[in-house]
Amino acid sequence: MPAVVLIGAQWGDEGKGKATDLLGSRVDYVVKFNGGNNAGHTVVVGDEKYALHLLPSGILTDGVVPVIANGVVVDIEVLFNELDALSARGVDVSRLLVSANAHVITAYHRTLDRVTERFLGKRQIGTTGRGIGPSYADKINRVGIRIQDIFDEGILRQKVEGALDQKNHLLVKVYNRRAIAVEEIVDDLLGFTERLRPMVADTSLVLNSALDEGKTVLFEGGQATMLDVDHGTYPFVTSSNATSGGAATGSGVAPNRMERVIAVVKAYTTRVGAGPFPTELHDESGEWLRGRGFEFGTTTGRPRRTGWYDAPVARYSARINGVTDFVLTKLDVLTGLETIPVAVAYDVDGERVDEVPVSQSDFHHAKPIYEELPGWTEDLSGAREFSDLPKSAQDYVLTLEELSGARISAIGVGPGRDEIVVRHDLLD
Ligand code: GDP
Ligand code: IMO
Ligand code: MG
Repeated sequence: MPAVVLIGAQWGDEGKGKATDLLGSRVDYVVKFNGGNNAGHTVVVGDEKYALHLLPSGILTDGVVPVIANGVVVDIEVLFNELDALSARGVDVSRLLVSANAHVITAYHRTLDRVTERFLGKRQIGTTGRGIGPSYADKINRVGIRIQDIFDEGILRQKVEGALDQKNHLLVKVYNRRAIAVEEIVDDLLGFTERLRPMVADTSLVLNSALDEGKTVLFEGGQATMLDVDHGTYPFVTSSNATSGGAATGSGVAPNRMERVIAVVKAYTTRVGAGPFPTELHDESGEWLRGRGFEFGTTTGRPRRTGWYDAPVARYSARINGVTDFVLTKLDVLTGLETIPVAVAYDVDGERVDEVPVSQSDFHHAKPIYEELPGWTEDLSGAREFSDLPKSAQDYVLTLEELSGARISAIGVGPGRDEIVVRHDLLD
């Protein structure tokens, strides 16, 4: 199984970090192909808890080569801080590779992210404020700064001048902020070159050569399908392709090399930030899910919005990503409910709709049509075989599998590395 893609099926925080970590010891490379330090992955290893943002979760596994590929936007200071924090805890971070073509996030991207959100008022996206959108906007606008640019001072100065030319007018005249000096940014970036240089590589070449040699490469998506800039709930999305197609453009490894697509999906649903969310709960059940599932953002600490499992969303993900296997996480969180509602379709203006509607307005006021499944009271955290799960938990999984468009190959029963039930080998 040479190249495997792992992505989020819902609105993020499905437990991708844990799923990657689970496969860690069996893969040679783990590649982050989209997003930046807007991601927040919590991985629990024994008594140790790690929160990763910019680094792929594979960095926690000895021997794995972590790769930040071209599709990522890199805040270099954040990168160094994260590396230092992991080194201080004894994690070997020496193998990290960073694509020469990845774009950088600078101080002006962070500033613009915050001021544009403020200007949007009640139309706010609720971004993480990390400069992600403005950095990708510059990339598409062809005024971005790439990692390779910081190694050529002349080019770097020219590019920063070009990027700041319009932005300073905008910052001063529209947003009432101070102008940012070209030299300030150039000096900042030049200060990173020495430490960064040994990590920089032609990562497309490295990964394709590794695949030629029969090595296993895991592509780890940040964010998730419903936050994808093309396929998500636009404009309430992130600015990159978080779906499986993004793994190819974001890494320079062709789609025909990717043999399996694993989607991580929570046994219920959460979302951080604004935008439609049909199964959202505004009552005490929503509070209960948030409390039981510790649903607070790993990156911003914001309480996550919570709701029941949405099967049309899972089916949509299966279609867009070509999902071969689901990893269903946080089943243990649902313990204690008498019955568990699962959305099987929507009611849109009195009409039953079985798939995620293409019209965003329809999705905004789609009302879930629920089926009530029997709950269970047993603690699931000790289950390691499917047959260890109580009958109604097994039935819950089987019903979700039937509704969601691909087999459920693994089931999370707790945050710990070994708290998982594997039904089908994810790499075989
Ligand atoms: P990611 O962004 O997709 O990597 O997910 P996050 O790390 O932001 O959020 C998932 C949270 O759920 C983390 O705190 C994990 O430790 C935790 N988690 C993952 N799988 C399970 C599970 O099966 N059960 C429970 N109770 N927690 C889990
Ligand atoms: P992981 O990888 C959940 C959300 C933000 C906001 C929108 C745009 O941990 O699953 P951005 O800063 O990306 O421009 O914000 O996307 N968002 C996430 N929500 N998990 C994430 O990452 C997210 N990354 C971005 O809350 O609504
Ligand atoms: Mg997260």
